[in-house]
Parts: sequence; C-alpha cells; structure tokens
Amino acid sequence: MPDQNYTYTPPPVKCNGFDPRAFRWVQTMRLAVEEINESTELLPNHTLGYKIFDSCAYPLTGQRAALAVLNGLSEADSPMCSGASPMLAVIGESGSAQSIVVSRLLRPFRIPMISYFSSCACFTDRRKYPTFFRVIPNDDYQVKAIAQLLLHFNWTWVGLIRGDHEYGRFAVQGLLRELQGSSVCVAYQEMIPLLYNTQRALEIMQVMRRSLAKVVVVFSAEGEMTPFLRDYMKQNITGIQWVASEAWVTASVFTGREFYPYLGGTIGFGIRKGHIAQLGDYLQTVSPQRYPDNVLVGELWEALYGCSPFPSSANHFPVCSGQEDLLKQHSAYMNTSSPRVAYNVYKAVYAVAHSLHNLLLCQSGNGPFENDSCAQSNNILPWQLQYYLQEVKFNMAGEEVNFDLKGDSVPYYDIINWQRGTTGSIEFVNVGLFDGTKPGGEELVIQEERMMWNRIVPVKVPVSVCSPSCPPGSRKAVRRGEPVCCFDCVPCDSGKISNQTNSVECIFCPEDWWSNQDRTSCIPKKVEFLAYDALGIPLTVISVVGASLTVGVFVVFFHHRSTAVVRVNNSELSFFILFALTLCFLCSLVFIGEPTVWSCMLRHTAFSITFSLCISCILGKTLVVLAAFTATRPGDNIMKWLGPKQQRAIIFSCTLVQVVICAAWLIDAPPYPSRNTKYERSKIILECSVGSSLAFWCVLGYIGLQACLCFVLAFLARKLPGNFNEAKYITFSMLIFSAVWLAFVPAYLSAPGNYAGAVESFAILASSFGLLFCLFAPKCYIILLKPEKNTKQHLMGKEKR
Ligand code: TRP
Repeated sequence: MPDQNYTYTPPPVKCNGFDPRAFRWVQTMRLAVEEINESTELLPNHTLGYKIFDSCAYPLTGQRAALAVLNGLSEADSPMCSGASPMLAVIGESGSAQSIVVSRLLRPFRIPMISYFSSCACFTDRRKYPTFFRVIPNDDYQVKAIAQLLLHFNWTWVGLIRGDHEYGRFAVQGLLRELQGSSVCVAYQEMIPLLYNTQRALEIMQVMRRSLAKVVVVFSAEGEMTPFLRDYMKQNITGIQWVASEAWVTASVFTGREFYPYLGGTIGFGIRKGHIAQLGDYLQTVSPQRYPDNVLVGELWEALYGCSPFPSSANHFPVCSGQEDLLKQHSAYMNTSSPRVAYNVYKAVYAVAHSLHNLLLCQSGNGPFENDSCAQSNNILPWQLQYYLQEVKFNMAGEEVNFDLKGDSVPYYDIINWQRGTTGSIEFVNVGLFDGTKPGGEELVIQEERMMWNRIVPVKVPVSVCSPSCPPGSRKAVRRGEPVCCFDCVPCDSGKISNQTNSVECIFCPEDWWSNQDRTSCIPKKVEFLAYDALGIPLTVISVVGASLTVGVFVVFFHHRSTAVVRVNNSELSFFILFALTLCFLCSLVFIGEPTVWSCMLRHTAFSITFSLCISCILGKTLVVLAAFTATRPGDNIMKWLGPKQQRAIIFSCTLVQVVICAAWLIDAPPYPSRNTKYERSKIILECSVGSSLAFWCVLGYIGLQACLCFVLAFLARKLPGNFNEAKYITFSMLIFSAVWLAFVPAYLSAPGNYAGAVESFAILASSFGLLFCLFAPKCYIILLKPEKNTKQHLMGKEKR
C-alpha cells in the first residue's frame, strides 16, 4: 500500500507478483459473458457488459475497486462503456476478506454480489450481508469434513496454520469448535502475517519442527503460502503431512517438481469441479499480439516465460517475441482439465444471466413486486435482480444451481491427494468425496488404497499423535495441565482389565474371575487347597509313617507285655495312649484334599477328641505315678482311689468334656467349607471356615488346659526316685507338646489361606511325634536293646546303687 497521509494524491496501489490462476478466472468470466451474448436462448437481444478490477487479493484494493464502480465512470474509461446501463451485480470477490469489504460497500445500494470463492462462514449472517450470494459451500462444511478426515486417520495431535484474514480466522474457529470434545487436539495455532516476514515464518517453522504434530492444517491461499513454502523448503523440514484447505489444494503454482519432496502426499478438500467445453481454447486466444495494450497479458508472459513481450524501462525481464505457445505445461494458467474455481466463476456469471433472463420474462400484472408489477426492462434496479437471483434455479452440465435463503450453495467436496506424476511434478488425484447433503456419518468417502503419502514411506499413513496409543491391558492417564491427547499409559491393576486400545478405564473382572498376566482378559480364578502336592504328599507320608511307628511300638509293647518295663508303667494306659496317638497321626490326613462338608466337620473335632483322649491318658498316668510315690506307707488309701476303674473313669470324663464341646460346636455352628478370596485376590482358596471361632479356641484351650495340668503334675513328680522315672519323660513330652502348640497359634493366625490347614496338620504331627518319642522311645530302647535292664529291680533303682 502507498502511504496515505492525505497531503498529496495517493499513488495507485502497486500489486506484487502476478497470479496466473486468477487471470484464468478472469478469462473464464469473459468467456461466459461472450457465450451468453452469443446465445439466442439466454438473454436474446441483450448484451452483457462487464468491468474487471484487480483487488490484488487485498481488502483495501478491493474497497478502492468497489468505490470506483460506485462512483461511476471516469473520463479514463473507454467511450464504449458510456451510455451503458448502471451496474446490476458484482461477480466476486475471491477472498472472503475482500468480499466482506465489497459487500458492505454495496449494501446501501442493494447491489447483489455473487462470490465464486469466498467460503467464510461469516457470510451466513443475512442481516449483515443481505445482498451476498455465493457458489461455493460455506466453510462450516469444510471444517466438518477436515475434522472427520483427521479422525479417520487417527491424527489426534495436529498443528493449525492460517493466513491473517477472516477466512483463516473463521475457519480455524470453526475447526476448533468441530474438534471440541473429539479425540483430536490442536498442538499449536500459528498465523502467517499479512505482510510476510521471514523472521516470523522461521519462528513458526521452529514450532513445527519441535512439535510432535506431524499433520498441519493450513487455511490460507497461495499468495501467502508461496513465500512461506519457499522458506520452509530452505529449512529442510521433512515428515510434515499437510492438510490443505480448498483455497490452495488445487493451486497449480505448487505442482513444480521441486515441491514434491516437501508437499507430496498433501491432502485436502477441493470444491466441486465442472466442465467448461471452450475454456482451453479460449485461454489460448490470449496473446500479447492480440492485446498489445493489456498490461496484464504482459505480466502473464513474464510469469509464465520469464520474459517481457512489451519491453519497458520498469522491468528487468529479457525481451521475447510474444509468440510463445501457451501449452498444457503452463499449468498455472492453462490447467483446464478439471476447472473448480473457474467453474464457479462460470456458474456465477450464468446465475446472473439466468436471473436477468427471468426478470425480463416477467409479464406485467403478474410480477413479484408491488401491485404485481415487474421491473422495467430499460431501467432495471439492482434489488430487483437480487430478488430473481434468490429465486434462480437452472441446470448446468447436469448440476442444479440455486441459492438457499442464506445465499449458500450445495456442500460438496472432492478429496484431493497430491501425488507424483510421471514427469516428477505433482498431480492432483481425486481420492474420495465429502457430500454434506448425506446423513451424518456417511458424508465422507475415502478410497484409501489410491492414496499416496509423503515420500518417505508413501504407502503408510503418517502418524501424528501426542502420545502413542495405550495397548490393551493399560489405560490412559491424562497428564496434568496438558491436553487430553497427551497422556501416559498405566498398566491396569491386577484384577482389572482393558481389552481395547486407548481405554480410558480398566474394568473390574467379575467375581471369581481375575485378570491374566497381560491384563487383557479375565480368566477364572485359580482354586487352591491343600492337595496331594509338594506339601500334601510329605504330610501324608509323615502321618502314615507316624501311625505305623505307633502301631510298631504297640506291637513291641504287646509282645513284651509281660516284661517289667511294660508292666511297671501301667500297661493298659500305655496301650490307650498308643491307640490315641495312632488316631492323632491319622487325623492330620483329614486336612489334606479338597474341603468338603464332612471333612471340615471332621477336621477339628477328630483331632481335638483324639488329642484330648491322648492327654487324658497321660494325665491319668501322671496321677498314678504321683500317687504311687507320694503314698508313703504301702497300702495307703490313695492307691485305692486310683485303681484301673477310676483311671478309666478319669480318662473317660476328661475326654467327654471335649466331646461335649465338639458336639455343641457341630450342632450350633459347624465348620463348613468356604471360598476365601480375601487373602489372595487372584485365587480362590478352598478352606474350612471354623464356623464358630469361640468353639475352636475353646477346643484348643481345653487341650491346652489338660496339657498344662499334666505338665504341672509331672513336674511335681519329676524328682521322685527310681531309675525309670516316667514323670521325667512326661514333663519333657508336655514341654515339647506345649512348645509346638504355642508356636502353632501365631503360625496359624498368620498362615496364608490354604497353609493354615498345613500348619495345623504339621502341628498335629509334630506334637504326636513329640509324645511318641518322649514317652515311648526310652522304653523301647530298654525293651529292645537293653533287655538285661528290663528287670523290676533295675527299674525301681534298687539294684546296686
Ligand atoms: N475460500 C477462500 C476465502 O474465502 C479463498 C481465497 C481466495 C483466499 N483468495 C484468498 C483465502 C486470499 C485467503 C487469501 O477467502
């Protein structure tokens, strides 16, 4: 822009560069107008006139152009235009920013405008832009399409770059709104400044390079993209997947071979293409010879051939003849295979022509205006044309053209993929479509197999995520203060699983199920009990060995029942004890194997009763020993009170107490098999629940009480004379017994699950062995190895002292 300090006439705006693409659109408009003027069906007997202004894709220049038309003709205009009708409609502008300015200027005059490229969602406000029409879909559809595309390829961490204009602002706003609540997050948002500035561009590229977001969505046009890309290529950043907006996805300036390494694989939504039969030929008619006065043609030549057909002092291009051929390779201008924007221009011109045609067809008395009047054909007012534009409906190459109440057109896009052509340059390949008129979810159709990605691995979809997805077996844990797309993966706790990637939460396994090693599925919990395994078999063996030993001792005693050792020590009680001990050993077998109702009931009761019996016998024996030696005089009464009958009665009654306790226990709250999942949550431990702990401890307590009593009595008798003092051994055996059972209590209480049974079983075996050895080993020793000592004299200690 020249400076405008209003102290002198401002010089005209100087446009930088030349856009062959826009020049093509201009030619398309001319072609359309010429076609219509030649047509005998459309607007016969009328000639359309036009005036074309260059806005340089800049709002202020657009504003100048609009004011210029509104101010009327200047003396510089050719006399051909004088006497013509006033301006009825404006085709344009291209960029939304310019359209906004122009539309606001035209509004007071109610002059309709039809834009062929202004897609900004901001135009939907009919109160602000009542005279605005367009033949391009509203960007709301495009951002929806882009959001779906990002989701489709799982690009959850993307960068946004836009130009400094309304188009970019509203598109980014719309995309952010569309992405809100979806799984896609925006890593950064950057803006290319209106006045291009390399410093700022390098900062943006720094951000791009550092970010994990490999997908970058750009809402911009080739005007600002060109210098930006030039700097980008110098920076040698690779691996970026561009998502191009409709404004530059079909811009032929970027098809050059040198762009391929950086832009290959770019994807974006292109507006609907059409077919204009004459376009190619028409574009070729442009030549410096034909339009020697037209500066734009000169500039076109400069842009395409790098030479100037109209040499002047101002430019520095070499001179050329101007007879160069316009070929297909000059695609920036000549790309006519699938016109998109040009087709829009064409459509817009035809829309005006059709509306005007309809206006002229109006029959007075039947018109749409006040009192059913029509517009006067020699004095058509712009707002009358606007009415017909709103109503217009016509067919163009099979496509219906019309405007909705907001002046918008049908939302349809092609998905364009930038692939390497045979010559090494970029080709725009159609790989799908987005049809906004389809119901939600069916709008996007992508032919992924035809897609080419960026050149490093052209067949693999690029990845653009902040954090790699969490595999099954783990869940996402959002990082504090960071977007939801950036997360850590934490493995599920045991007992919980996640069977999908990117699970937000791990779910509990149902009861009796547990997670597998990988936490990906639930498996039935392992059922454990004290089985015939590493623990069960030794216990069984020991108990059988113990029982056999006891039986062995029994046999030895029985065989030697007439010898002194057996007889002096109350043989009946000894046999009783041996019997009870055998049962004790066998008792521990009940603890092995899967707990059942019966085995549970049997476990504690059988053991407690046999132990009670055993200790009662020992108690009886102690009493006898004590009595025998405390009886100072022979024939003392005490022995009378402790005859075999009484002994049996003592044993019987002592055991009976235990039997009663057990019976009460079984009747009231018997032990039952139960599944313990508390101890180890990953296993089900089959065990016997005691039913009533009180009863359990009573039973143990009673045995303990008996043992203590026995110990005390035996302790009193330990010093009594005699070479074979039984009391000594009983004391000793009770010591061992108590030690085992005292150790048992804490071990039992802290033993994990199925080991409690093993602990109890072990205690039973240990104490039984203790009793067996202490009470019977010395006697067996004498009986079997020292038979010479097996005499009454010796035992009484009366043998030569
Ligand atoms: N759809 C864009 C818009 O509405 C197209 C466009 C044309 C453009 N010219 C531009 C975008 C210049 C940015 C700058 O604006």
